[in-house]
Amino acid sequence: MSLDMKELVSLCKRRGFIFQSSEIYGGINGFWDYGPLGVELKNAIKQFWWQEMVHMREDVVGQDASIIMHPKVWEASGHVSNFSDPMVDCRECKARFRQDHLEESGNTKTCPSCGAEALTEAKDFNLMLQTQVGASTDSSAVAYLRPETAQAIFVNFKTVQMCSRKKLPFGIAQIGKAFRNEITPRNFTFRSREFEQMEMQYFVDPEEGADWYEYWSQERKKFFLKLGIEENKLRFHAHGEGELAHYAKAAQDIEVEFPFGWQEVEGIHDRGDFDLSQHEEYSGEEMKYFEEQSRRKFVPHVLETSIGADRVTLAVLCSAYRKEDLSESSGKEDVRTVLGLMPQIAPVQVAVLPLMKKLSEQAREVYQKMQRAGLRADFDITGQIGKRYRRQDEIGTPYCVTFDFDSLDDGQVTVRFRDSMEQTRQPIEHLASFLREQIQQELESK
Ligand code: GAP
Repeated sequence: MSLDMKELVSLCKRRGFIFQSSEIYGGINGFWDYGPLGVELKNAIKQFWWQEMVHMREDVVGQDASIIMHPKVWEASGHVSNFSDPMVDCRECKARFRQDHLEESGNTKTCPSCGAEALTEAKDFNLMLQTQVGASTDSSAVAYLRPETAQAIFVNFKTVQMCSRKKLPFGIAQIGKAFRNEITPRNFTFRSREFEQMEMQYFVDPEEGADWYEYWSQERKKFFLKLGIEENKLRFHAHGEGELAHYAKAAQDIEVEFPFGWQEVEGIHDRGDFDLSQHEEYSGEEMKYFEEQSRRKFVPHVLETSIGADRVTLAVLCSAYRKEDLSESSGKEDVRTVLGLMPQIAPVQVAVLPLMKKLSEQAREVYQKMQRAGLRADFDITGQIGKRYRRQDEIGTPYCVTFDFDSLDDGQVTVRFRDSMEQTRQPIEHLASFLREQIQQELESK
């Protein structure tokens, strides 16, 4: 059964994954909140990215920089003069549109909102969100909410390189919020005005730039597979001359097939020496690197991997959502909704369910044991066991553990697997390590 975006959006709200920001006031366009399950899922994806990009590598270190930086950063980076979209206004109803979106829809004359033939010429509109810092209200107080985390990495390049004593090639990674005054936020969280990026800038000898660009493209594809996104829903899109951002020498996107088409989720960019040279010029601080072996001094080149945490979370949700028609085996109309999330990132990894309420006390001990073992665990005592399984299927819980009357005597519980719905008896004593092994095996199978 193919995915209807409306159903996924409704599940996300009903089960507490993602809903509109400030909903009781009618919401605010382009801003989203993550509920109890959504925050677990997004955190798990961020942790997994950090683990793959920082903890499992010798050549990448992390940082966490402030959102507001010196305004000159954005002059040096080119964002003040270049970070804009050409916009068209309707003189009648005052609606505003991105010109490229109008062109995509083949409609450049008539207003899509009111139908009037009253569209203006395109004008550039800067996407950075402004704020003021300090008490004065003149232009010297203007500051920007960062539109990308990348610049904080370039600005800190020398400090981090020295304190971490890294030699080229090495990278700096960061996860953090970014803000863009998108004109047409759309497709649920896909294009938001406040979002999170997971970016890594890899500094290399200029002669090795092309090889590292290739390396990171391949490396990053594996991440999507490990998140459970199927290979046939992934593709690379290399940017042609006209598409390249102002900083890029070469760029390609990793695109995922969403219900609303193929869309960019991650960008891999060869930024050359653009950023470090710009900051050297604007700040007056030297950004060159001295390589002892060859006695050469140069501005390193940068390979960037940049992925949106919200966008990849949405990609994961879309690819995990499925409906299974079980009517034949059930003998009645029966459709099961499943989020087939990888156990590594599932918001609840194990749900402990006492068969009957009177077994709650002993079952709760198993639940607490799972929590102490570091698994994301849930405990549910309400409703028939079959209904409880289905509730867990719908939020992507890979393993349900049922505590029944036999458990009191034999110290074993039934583990039910979400995808196959098969069941096995396991001793409580080794339950956490059994589940850990299952989680690891799933990951290694990708
Ligand atoms: N530092 C490079 C950079 O920011 P980008 O292609 O503009 O490059 C990188 O953004 C990633 O950030 C995108 O691939 C996307 O996943 C995410 N992203 C960008 N704009 C976004 C938005 N408005 N809403 C959600 N995610 C966004």
